[in-house]
Amino acid sequence: MRVLVLGKGGREHALVWKLSQSKLVEELFSAPGNPGMEEVSKTFNFKDFEDLKEKLLKNRVDLVVVGPEEYLVKGVRDYLESFGIKVFGPDKKTAQLEGSKAFAKEFMRKYSIPTAQYEVFEDFEGAKSFVESKGAPIVIKADGLAGGKGVKVCFKKEEAISFLEDLMLKGKFGDSGKRVVIEEYLEGEEASYIVMAKGELYLPLPTSQDHKRLFDGDRGPNTGGMGAYSPTPVIDQQTEKRIREEIVERTLKGLLREGLTYLGFLYAGLMITKEGPKVLEFNVRLGDPEAQPLLCRIDSDLLEAILNLMEEKKTELKVKRDWALDLVLASKGYPEKPQVGKEIRGVEEVKREGIMVFYAGVKREGGKLLTAGGRVLNLCALGKTLKEARDKVYRAVEKIHFEGMHYRRDIGLRAFKYL
Ligand code: AMP
Ligand code: GLY
Repeated sequence: MRVLVLGKGGREHALVWKLSQSKLVEELFSAPGNPGMEEVSKTFNFKDFEDLKEKLLKNRVDLVVVGPEEYLVKGVRDYLESFGIKVFGPDKKTAQLEGSKAFAKEFMRKYSIPTAQYEVFEDFEGAKSFVESKGAPIVIKADGLAGGKGVKVCFKKEEAISFLEDLMLKGKFGDSGKRVVIEEYLEGEEASYIVMAKGELYLPLPTSQDHKRLFDGDRGPNTGGMGAYSPTPVIDQQTEKRIREEIVERTLKGLLREGLTYLGFLYAGLMITKEGPKVLEFNVRLGDPEAQPLLCRIDSDLLEAILNLMEEKKTELKVKRDWALDLVLASKGYPEKPQVGKEIRGVEEVKREGIMVFYAGVKREGGKLLTAGGRVLNLCALGKTLKEARDKVYRAVEKIHFEGMHYRRDIGLRAFKYL
């Protein structure tokens, strides 16, 4: 089978690395890829969907596995399938589950999927008086995709109103912010639950926990994610059962009732509250960085699992008992204005020590590795205990250098109070 991974981040590097171990792969490609993905697959760039399609046909690619949501929300599956290319990822309509928060919330309300109470607004005055009446804490979310920056948890009314102004009057996120969802603030511990699904059939992946804020102690702005570990004790067996029944199964069945057959990775971003798990958001893809530790723990052939699922054959995943921890190394200025073009040193040494290094914003120039984005590298390790995995990663990070490198020092620490 000839397979291509679409994307260029740490998640896609982990995906292509995992797929490269499959006995069913004849040739592996990635687009646009990055220097890490280049080591395990043939990479090529593309201008638009049409150009991508031409290159996929030329290389006789049978299956495309999609990393980021943007392509899915823009309908990459619908487009490529019309040329006979199989895609693992939802179609454009189903991708609204991530592409429109209002769509996701209305869907959850309709199918009794536990989530924060909310209202949707398209007029600023209406939104403002709702905030005035509810008070803080309150959560404001831009309806459309905003690269993780369209959500603000507000502890003061004024903060909420000023964010509403940014979104609805000043057009900070363009069309994405014209419509807003205003939500009840949920208290609890966040966790990620990801499955691979086709219609009602699904295969749970191991549980994980991300760290979304930029600084230690969950302070600072929201980011795409600064580190993750798997499994997370925040999701115990009983909670997992509830997540499967009340969230995953209701979602997949509800979509079918809407005439939508899910295909791909489905990610529920959860708040584990006193009353039980509630959905903060759905993503129609793997999490980044959750995918990195999670894929490191999977022993089964991932491509075989994907293909079985696509043919609606029951299949199981073998998962290592080990813990895995992934640390993101980011550029100075991330997430607002990352500095780029800094030389990266120490990667080869760390790899020799058995640490997985997944590349994100990295480019190769004249034999050197340079930073080329906000999140630069992921260091990921397995251990018999969480402490062991953590220690390996934090020892390794001492050997990596680039100017302005920033990382959190507390990835995984939250788990210890449950262990
Ligand atoms: P989202 O993109 O909707 O997952 O929101 C980004 C982040 O904002 C989440 O990871 C949470 O940390 C926080 N958040 C979102 N919704 C809520 C909520 N209703 N209550 C508390 N925190 C929230
Ligand atoms: N790590 C969070 C996300 O991928 O959305």
